[in-house]
Amino acid sequence: MNIKIAVLPGDGIGPEIIAQALEVTKAVCNKFGHTLDYKKGLVGACAIDATGNPYPEETHELCMQSDAVLFGAVGDLRFDNNPSAKVRPEQGLLAMRKKLGLYANLRPVTTFESLIDKSPLRPEIVRGADFMCIRELTGGLYFGRPQGRSEDGNTAYDTCVYTREEVERIVKLAYEYAMKRRKKVTVVDKANVLATSRLWREVAGEIAKQYPEVETEFMFVDNAAMRLIQWPSSFDVMVTENMFGDILTDEGSVITGSMGLLPSASIGVHTSLFEPIHGSWPQAAGKNIANPLATILSAAMMFEYAFGLLEEGALIREAVNASMAQNVCTPDLQSDGDTKYGTAEVGAWIVDYINKK
Ligand code: IPM
Ligand code: MG
Repeated sequence: MNIKIAVLPGDGIGPEIIAQALEVTKAVCNKFGHTLDYKKGLVGACAIDATGNPYPEETHELCMQSDAVLFGAVGDLRFDNNPSAKVRPEQGLLAMRKKLGLYANLRPVTTFESLIDKSPLRPEIVRGADFMCIRELTGGLYFGRPQGRSEDGNTAYDTCVYTREEVERIVKLAYEYAMKRRKKVTVVDKANVLATSRLWREVAGEIAKQYPEVETEFMFVDNAAMRLIQWPSSFDVMVTENMFGDILTDEGSVITGSMGLLPSASIGVHTSLFEPIHGSWPQAAGKNIANPLATILSAAMMFEYAFGLLEEGALIREAVNASMAQNVCTPDLQSDGDTKYGTAEVGAWIVDYINKK
């Protein structure tokens, strides 16, 4: 098969982790006889520096013409520390999600037996946690208008907007996933306060009737934040709006032991995008310490979701599991006294494992 992808490293640790995921992708293509046709594009702060636009038209064209997008991270301290910046790196990611119509962000939280002791939670709580968070990605507070500042600068506002259609398509997707899993959907909202959440609850209630085999649970987001650390294994498919999903998946990611492990797939109307859920971690850029596994696992999701190549994805997962079992881990997963591996060494170990397979 021809694997035609756009590769967008972005900022901070993005280039380092993408370099490893790309080497893994090459190794897998080589092993299974696929041709890899990839082109790199600019997004985020590096795109602002080069073109003034965090998601240049050229990058959008490249994404539209590709079968998948492999994405690193965006963000830069220069902008984080400057609240009055007119353009921001994150706007590149948001524009990309919107223009590609990527309304569903799939964030699978799974535990790895070899890392069970690395979780901040007790092993008996973590063991068996395995759920899919389906985060709505192109609506809510992130995109609602008006957004801005009053003329005197003393008032700021964001608007949370959802339409029935937006809620319907994401909730339906969640039920379809649940049918393939343990048949339970948790709808996370704040329906005791927010009008948008009440729309979510109403729509979800209607869709639930179409899936009588699936158990439906409605949960307020504050309660969900607590249940996630108290009883993570009680979730199967969680579906929620944009902002809640952003927050809960950072929390969910550390259940597994490190934020550097959680991949994601964003799917929708046009080309699907695969990215780690962690950010650009600018403080670590160039230090060869960032964990490349979330990005490598995102590449696994890319083979599976964008190309239907399940064996290829499975081999990447096997290699990742083997690396962790052998304690070939970046500092976030190392205990004192463990052999030190960097981003590049972990990536190289995984490539080697694939080549030898
Ligand atoms: C994520 C990130 C982004 C988000 C940022 C970088 C805009 O935190 O993908 O979770 O908030 O969606
Ligand atoms: Mg986030």
